[in-house]
Amino acid sequence: MQDKILSILKEIEDFQIVDKETFEQFKRNYTSKKGKISILFEELKSLDKSQKAVAGKSLNELKNKAEEKEKLFQERYENLNTKNQQDLTLKGITQFQGSRHPIQITLNKIITIFTEMGFQIAEGPEIEDDWHNFSALNFPENHPARDMQDTFFLENSQYLLRTHTSSVQVRLMEKNELPIRAIMPGRVYRNEEITARSHCFFHQVEGLVIDKNVSYADLKQTLEWFVKKLFGENTQIRLRSSYFPFTEISAEVDVSCFICSGVGCSVCKHSGWVEILGCGMVDPQVLINCSVDPEIYSGYAFGLGIERITMLLNKISDIRLMDQNDIRFLNQFQHFSLF
Ligand code: PHE
Repeated sequence: MQDKILSILKEIEDFQIVDKETFEQFKRNYTSKKGKISILFEELKSLDKSQKAVAGKSLNELKNKAEEKEKLFQERYENLNTKNQQDLTLKGITQFQGSRHPIQITLNKIITIFTEMGFQIAEGPEIEDDWHNFSALNFPENHPARDMQDTFFLENSQYLLRTHTSSVQVRLMEKNELPIRAIMPGRVYRNEEITARSHCFFHQVEGLVIDKNVSYADLKQTLEWFVKKLFGENTQIRLRSSYFPFTEISAEVDVSCFICSGVGCSVCKHSGWVEILGCGMVDPQVLINCSVDPEIYSGYAFGLGIERITMLLNKISDIRLMDQNDIRFLNQFQHFSLF
C-alpha cells in the first residue's frame, strides 16, 4: 500500500496542468470518485488494524496534496476569466473592417461638390401620387411612362413608386420658399427587366435652381464645374438636344470619356463620349403648376443616375453587383474613407 501511495504521489507532483483539458484529466485520474485515490481508500478497508492507521494517514496526505493542486489551478483559471486578464498565449481574433457601399461613395462625392457650390439637400417620399410624379411635370395623359409596363402602381392605382426624383422638384416648388438651389438624392423604381445595364430600382440625384434671371448658361456652367470636379479637370461636356415633358429646352449631357480621354474605348463604345445626365430649363407651365410666377422666376433642373456614374468611375460592368451584397465585391471599396 505504502509503495502505491508513494508512486501516485510522484505522479501527482509531476503532472502538468496547463489548460482546461489537462485539468479535467487530472481530476479524472486522481480526485474523482473513480480516481486512483478513491480506489486506494477502498483497498484500505481490507487492511488489518495495525497497517490501517499508518496507511490511512499517508493516504489522507496524498488526498490533500491532490486537492491542493486542483484548487490552485482552479483559482488561476477563474482569475483569468473573471478579472479579464489577457492570456497572452491565446491566438488573436481577426477584425473585419467594413466599407461604404460604392453607391454611397459616389453620392457623397456628388453631395460634396454641390454643397460647396451652395446647393442644399432635399428629400421626398418614394411612394408618390400621380400629381407629383407625372401631372405637375406636364406628362401628357397618354405618355408611355404612365403605363403599367413602366411604372409600379400601388393598389387601386392612386399611388405609385416614383419613377424619378423629379417629383421632389414639384414638392420643393410647392413649398414656395424661393429662391431654390437644391439637390435631391433618392431611390427610384421602374417596371423594367433586370439586366446587366438596367434594374427595376436605382438611385438618382435631382438638381433644381429657381431664381430671378436664371439662364441656360448658368446650367451649362454649373454642370461643367461639376463634371470637372467628379471626373477630372480635363473633362469636357457636350449638350445634345433632347426632350423631357417638364423642361424646355431640354438636353442630354455627355462627358468626354475619362477612361480613354476621348480617343475611343469599350466604355464609350469608341465614340469618345459617355452620357451621364438629362437636364433643361424648367418649363414655365411646370412653374405655374407649382404656383411659381414664370414672369418673375426661371430655373433649370437636371437628373443623373448614381449607378451609372458609379459603374463608369469604378469600371463595373454589371449593375446587379450593386445590390447583391457580395462581400468580395464590397471589400474592394475599403480604401475609400468611411467618413
Ligand atoms: N427625370 C429625368 C429622368 O429620370 C431626368 C431629368 C431631370 C431630366 C431633370 C431633365 C431635368 O430621366
